[in-house]
Amino acid sequence: MKTNTLNIKLVGEVIYGNGLGRTLGFPTANLRASDSLSGVGSGVWAAIATIDGTEHPAVVNIGRSPSVVENGDVRIEAHLLDFEGNLYGRTLEIELRQFIRPEQKFASREALCAQITLDCESARKALI
Ligand SMILES: Cc1cc2nc3c(=O)[nH]c(=O)nc-3n(C[C@H](O)[C@H](O)[C@H](O)COP(=O)(O)O)c2cc1C
Repeated sequence: MKTNTLNIKLVGEVIYGNGLGRTLGFPTANLRASDSLSGVGSGVWAAIATIDGTEHPAVVNIGRSPSVVENGDVRIEAHLLDFEGNLYGRTLEIELRQFIRPEQKFASREALCAQITLDCESARKALI
């Protein structure tokens, strides 16, 4: 995998989100976000997610998911590009590698899904 000089790492236990990601077709592993993170790193990133010492290319959203939640808390959500399985309770390390775009409020789930599909392609290009 490609490397570069950006080196922002977030580590935590995978917690339950609101389960919407799966219905959108993009299951996400959610990390607990501390209040001090608010605003920091907000947006969509290409990232490397590490579980049990294995690295996986991932696309990460840090934000409040304004398209689907009103006045939500800041969350860190990772969609792993090559992984299927249950990560709840496991320790996940996320290394942010490349900023892709700011978080946006989309008018429909379809528009959000179409953009996340593009984000996955951008992340693949940035990482692999
Ligand atoms: C790569 C990626 C990009 C995302 N971008 C946005 C965004 O721009 N706007 C938004 O409202 N939500 C965005 N989301 C968050 C989705 O709305 C979120 O995954 C969904 O609400 C599922 O949440 P859950 O894990 O709690 O089920 C993004 C999620 C991912 C994985």
